[in-house]
Amino acid sequence: MVRKIVLLNPKGGTGKTTIATNLAAYYASQGVPTALTDTDPQGSCSRWLVKRPEANPEIHGIATYKEQTGITRSFAMRLPEDVERVIVDTPAALPIHKLIEETRGADKILVPVLPSEIDIHAATRCIADLLLQAKVHPDDNRLAVVANRVKPNTLVFKSLMRFLGSLGIPVAAVLRDSQAYIRSAELGIGVHEMQPSRVRRDLEQWETLIDWVENRKEPSVLDLNSEDLNREELDKEQVDAEVYGVPARDAQFPQGT
Ligand SMILES: Nc1ncnc2c1ncn2[C@@H]1O[C@H](COP(=O)(O)OP(=O)(O)OP(=O)(O)O)[C@@H](O)[C@H]1O
Ligand SMILES: [Mg+2]
Repeated sequence: MVRKIVLLNPKGGTGKTTIATNLAAYYASQGVPTALTDTDPQGSCSRWLVKRPEANPEIHGIATYKEQTGITRSFAMRLPEDVERVIVDTPAALPIHKLIEETRGADKILVPVLPSEIDIHAATRCIADLLLQAKVHPDDNRLAVVANRVKPNTLVFKSLMRFLGSLGIPVAAVLRDSQAYIRSAELGIGVHEMQPSRVRRDLEQWETLIDWVENRKEPSVLDLNSEDLNREELDKEQVDAEVYGVPARDAQFPQGT
């Protein structure tokens, strides 16, 4: 059965393309017939596919935008019949009507969020749009966040995790800031196709993401009381001021959702 997984966050540079390409490479490496749909006029996924070595399992590229400047390989618009996973990469600044269109019929919607004040703010907006405009119901188990480019033990990471916990949306994975993803973009391969001993920690972090996408595990909403988040006693007022610029009670998820 075909399953569609959409990477979405109108904020630029959060890791949509990185996660889309790595997820596609994971499925391909498992022998699952996979398509990667590039809806971004920048064509980042398509460029990644062009770099992909011939020796690696094929990923079927679909470019749904019109211009493909500088891209030499041809990309079919139609899905091959045997495809089982379709990964959709969406562009930054996605207008609302496109957000609704891209998420229609999606089995899973992943919203990558970076640990920064601007990104936390943008994620609030994006998730509100998904719930209210695209009518994604939290109980459908279709929507999750990925905390990306994380540097553990930083105040801003802890604040991001607290914020995500407060939304009640599952966090499918926490991906660290890793050179492996830079290499992945350069080489057209995914972390699952790299020397495992070099990316062991990254592979571990991907396990929870894949488990969520494949419905292998109940989605977990962050435990705000977890030891991880509270190991060091942080000055909450200081964190809130640093991350939100306002006290936490004012940085809540929008009312009525
Ligand atoms: N976990 C990570 N560790 C290190 N670098 C990362 C990580 N995730 C993404 N990057 C890098 O951050 C940059 C932005 O990532 P990416 O292009 O995936 O974001 P995007 O959301 O697709 O951006 P856009 O909105 O412009 O399409 C890239 O250079 C990518 O290699
Ligand atoms: Mg991108």
